[in-house]
Order: sequence, then structure tokens, then C-alpha cells
Amino acid sequence: MNHFIYESFCDSDNFTHISEELNALNKLIVNKSNVLLYSKRKFGKTSLIKEFFDKKINKDENITIYIDLFNIVSAIDFIKMLYKQIASSLPYDNKSILRELRIIFTKVNFTANMKDDGSLEFDVSLLSYNPKELIMDVYKGLKEIHTSTNKQIIIAFDDFWQIKLIKNFKIDAILKEYIQDEQHINYIFTGTKHRLLIDMFSKRKMPLFNMAEQLELKAIPIEQFYQFIDHRLQGRISYDIFQYIYNITEGEAKLIQEFCYHLSNKSNKTEKITINDIDEVCLFLLNSKSEYFKMILNRLTFAQKIALKAVIMSEGIDLYTKNNLFKLQVTKASLNTAIKYLYLNELIDKQDNKYYISNKCFELWCRRILVCK
Ligand SMILES: Nc1ncnc2c1ncn2[C@@H]1O[C@H](COP(=O)(O)OP(=O)(O)OP(=O)(O)O)[C@@H](O)[C@H]1O
Ligand SMILES: [Mg+2]
Repeated sequence: MNHFIYESFCDSDNFTHISEELNALNKLIVNKSNVLLYSKRKFGKTSLIKEFFDKKINKDENITIYIDLFNIVSAIDFIKMLYKQIASSLPYDNKSILRELRIIFTKVNFTANMKDDGSLEFDVSLLSYNPKELIMDVYKGLKEIHTSTNKQIIIAFDDFWQIKLIKNFKIDAILKEYIQDEQHINYIFTGTKHRLLIDMFSKRKMPLFNMAEQLELKAIPIEQFYQFIDHRLQGRISYDIFQYIYNITEGEAKLIQEFCYHLSNKSNKTEKITINDIDEVCLFLLNSKSEYFKMILNRLTFAQKIALKAVIMSEGIDLYTKNNLFKLQVTKASLNTAIKYLYLNELIDKQDNKYYISNKCFELWCRRILVCK
């Protein structure tokens, strides 16, 4: 059996215990702060929230509600998701839950199906299509839940920046009123750095300006990650070899697990893992994703491809030097427009004044295709 998980968030059994961030998150929530949890892509935000809710939160005193906004495309989607996730998080038994929900919420009808594991999955039909009215109903219900259970409510909005894609309704402006007023609810908002921070929480004119304390999830420290991985590979990987993977992936948790998944499948189960094994897995990974990456590249204009190359060649800094522009045969204006496009479309991101390609595996692939020809 392969013990490496990389395709979605990881559960407790597959989670390297990152106590620093868990404790920091706990401290903020205990102090009733809202938290803005940000990191580069695939560093483990979702896994951290799930672990936090599972292991750190006392369920006798709190109700935790996890809301994944990844697929939200409209305000109504957002509200339906809120109702459903609230329903699945309430501390009522299967027999009474639908009756309780009918009493608590007035603008929605709930139905429920039982899943194989005995838990209920809810569906909702709305009795209004006015988002403001529905959100008011949601918060009125949350208040009643708080009053009747005497529990604090913690809501995690994962991938919260997605609500900015909903153009015809300003969800953040509406939420602001409730976030300010309802002291019995704490929030954890997650996202990648530039979108979430710059667009939503750090600009003075934005509704949620200063509404949450920032917490950065950094790469899992190498020593800790090494112990976790080596244990799973039954002592077959040396620290130096792991360091080689860690450096290639720049500590991206998902890619490290993906590497190790393939290493674990590939190599002889008794032999030590070598650099050669890792290079082979790397090549295999890049080849297996090649068609997908080609599709991304083919959607870009010539100038945008050059901009990707510029980010890689200059390691993300001083993109516009005369030397760079000359080497790439591009004008400053054209490079600037292309960089803006890549940034707005999340193909590249920026941290500490340094650009980087958001998807680390795509970057490794681009390095081969665009730079090492
Ligand atoms: N604490 C951890 N220990 C070990 N592996 C981890 C840990 N956190 C994350 N991972 C690895 O990273 C993968 C992605 O994790 P997760 O989905 O939580 O990241 P994310 O930051 O939420 O991603 P995204 O930026 O897409 O929202 C997991 O499937 C797992 O392989
Ligand atoms: Mg996530």
C-alpha cells in the first residue's frame, strides 16, 4: 500500500504535525480573533484547518463549520453552500435535525440523504432568491444556534478569494456587517497571498480591511518533513537525498508527497533511494503532466510565454533590466502587460518583491521547455 497522499487535503494520519502554525492558529481563535491564513499554493492550508478543527477544537464548547468556496460561481451558490455546511455541522442527531433546521431557518427547505458512513448529506431549496434576505436568514439562524447550544461558532471559508469572482453581488460588503456585529462567530479565511491579502484585506477601501489577523503558513520545516517521509519509506531515504527533493520542490508539501508516492511505487522496497531515482521520478512527473501543461502554454500569447521565461531566467527579480529585455528581445511595455496578465490569472504570484510561477511543477516543466532548450 502507498502511504503518500497528494491529490486533495490530507487527514490526520497523513499530516506532519506542524505545531507552530497549529498553536498560532489556536491562540488567535481562543482570543476571538478572525484569522487570515495564507500561503503559497499547495502548502497545506486546507489540511491545517481540518487538523485544527479535528484536534484542537473542543466540540463541547464550539461548533466548527468548514466551507470550501472553490466551486462557487454565484451568490446563490455561496448561500446554498452556507446552509448545507451549517446543517452538516450541527450537534443534533439524525432524527431531529430536519425538524430543528425547519425551526431555525425560514427561507429554505432542507432534505437529507444518508451516506454509507451513516452521516447525512443535505440539499436545499431556497424560498427566496434575494441574497441579502437569505444571508440575513443564515445569520439569524446562527444566532439562534449559538443561543440554544451556548457554543462559539467557528467558520472556515477556504479559498475565500473566490467570492471576488462573483461580479454582480458584493458578498464581502454584506458579510462585513455580520462579521463586525456577531461576536459569537470567529472566522478563518484562507487563500494564496496576493489575491487574499492585497485584494481583500489590506486595501483601506475594501470592505474587509483589517478584519482579520494574518497568519502565514510557511513550508514545513525540512527536518520535520524528513522524519515523516523517512518513516513512511521505512528508513530508505537519507537526509541529503530528501534535501535534494525539498530543494527541487522548494518545500511545496503536495509536490513532495507526490514525488514520494512515485518513489515508493517505483523503487525496490529494500534498496536505499538514490539521486538517480529522484531524477527519474521528476522526469516521469513532468512527462505525465506534459499535455496539460502544453494546453496552458498554448493559451498564452507569444509575449506572455516570454514573460514566463523572464520570470524563470531572472529568478523573479529585476525583470526589466536592459540586459534582460535585450536577451529576451522584448520591450518593457510589452513585458509589463504580459506580466500583469499572468499575475491576474494566477499563473504567477509575487512575494517579497519576487515573482514566481504559482504551480511549482509547471515551473519545473517550463524550465525545461522554455529555458533549457
Ligand atoms: N502537514 C502536512 N504534512 C504532510 N503533507 C501535507 C501537509 N499539508 C499538506 N500536505 C500535502 O500537500 C497536499 C495539499 O494540501 P492542501 O490541499 O491542504 O494544500 P492547500 O494549501 O490547501 O492547497 P491550495 O493552495 O490548492 O488550496 C496534501 O494532499 C498533502 O500531500
Ligand atoms: Mg486548499
